Amino acid sequence: MDTIRISPFGREESVVNHLLASKKVGFIGCGNMAQTIIKGWLDSQILSASHIFATNRSPGKLQKFAEEKKIQTPSSSEQMIEQVDVVVLAMKPQDLLSAIEDFQHAFSENQIVISLAAGTPMSVITKAINAKVRVARLMPNTPSSIKEGVIGYCTNTRDEELGSFIEDLFSPLGLVIETEEGEAFEALTVSAASGVGFVFELMIYWREWLEEHGFDGETASLMTIKTFLGASKLADQSNKLNLEELLAKVTSKQGVTAAGLNSMRELELERGLRYSFEKAVLRDRELSKSR
Ligand SMILES: NC(=O)c1ccc[n+]([C@@H]2O[C@H](COP(=O)([O-])OP(=O)(O)OC[C@H]3O[C@@H](n4cnc5c(N)ncnc54)[C@H](OP(=O)(O)O)[C@@H]3O)[C@@H](O)[C@H]2O)c1
Repeated sequence: MDTIRISPFGREESVVNHLLASKKVGFIGCGNMAQTIIKGWLDSQILSASHIFATNRSPGKLQKFAEEKKIQTPSSSEQMIEQVDVVVLAMKPQDLLSAIEDFQHAFSENQIVISLAAGTPMSVITKAINAKVRVARLMPNTPSSIKEGVIGYCTNTRDEELGSFIEDLFSPLGLVIETEEGEAFEALTVSAASGVGFVFELMIYWREWLEEHGFDGETASLMTIKTFLGASKLADQSNKLNLEELLAKVTSKQGVTAAGLNSMRELELERGLRYSFEKAVLRDRELSKSR
């Protein structure tokens, strides 16, 4: 697919665009995802606390976080938008449009606006903001908090400079993938963001089966986590072997693994998973239409 661009994990510091460090970034909404992103930037030293600004609807949460991380807290979102280069819209999708109405006049031409709002097309955001801004839609997932995220984005301008800027900014949090808004972005949302939930569901089945076979909950949990982690790490670090080859390496003909795999195929596990992915895509579409 020629519409997808991937940036490598954790760029070397020397490759990091030093222009980035001079940019001021402001978050409207300082909840879970904003805090995850800010922590990632501060830990990787890609931006300093003096260049990170945030506002939040209820002050308590922001105050506590800002004191701890020494980030800037302007007195209003309008004031913040006027002094930053990049605005990150980090509130829940249902709060987004009414909030933009309140500070829409503060945006300036060519400012970069990054929206984290799930199910909210870029056209809706561009229409709500009354200035010719550059908009990017970003879909991070929760493993971004441990720098193992999959972070998808698309832009309304598709200019190289904006793409590189977003990749430099977000690669400290994981794998950054550019795609077009539409089918590929939906698939990325479902596989990476909802996908974390799907994997947890599978892990719960795994743990429960172990518990039914005599392991206590804690041990069963640990065994499950290590099995998923071990398989993922092995796949990540076996750069010469693809997933099919790794599978072949653990499967001897007519052996134990083969018996389990045959049963998975007979029961059409793949069909069940694909069906669930498609259902999640349909829900994402429904939510987009209701914005
Ligand atoms: N969490 C994830 O895994 C994840 C993954 C991908 C995308 N996202 C997207 O990221 C966005 C944020 O999600 P989240 O999980 O971080 O939600 P969250 O923890 O609820 O944070 C949202 C924050 O926005 C604040 N807020 C609401 N309206 C505001 C306004 N008008 N001005 C300033 N602040 C305002 C809320 O303030 P209060 O303290 O008053 O509620 C809250 O702290 C959502 O659009 C979501 O779709 C999240």
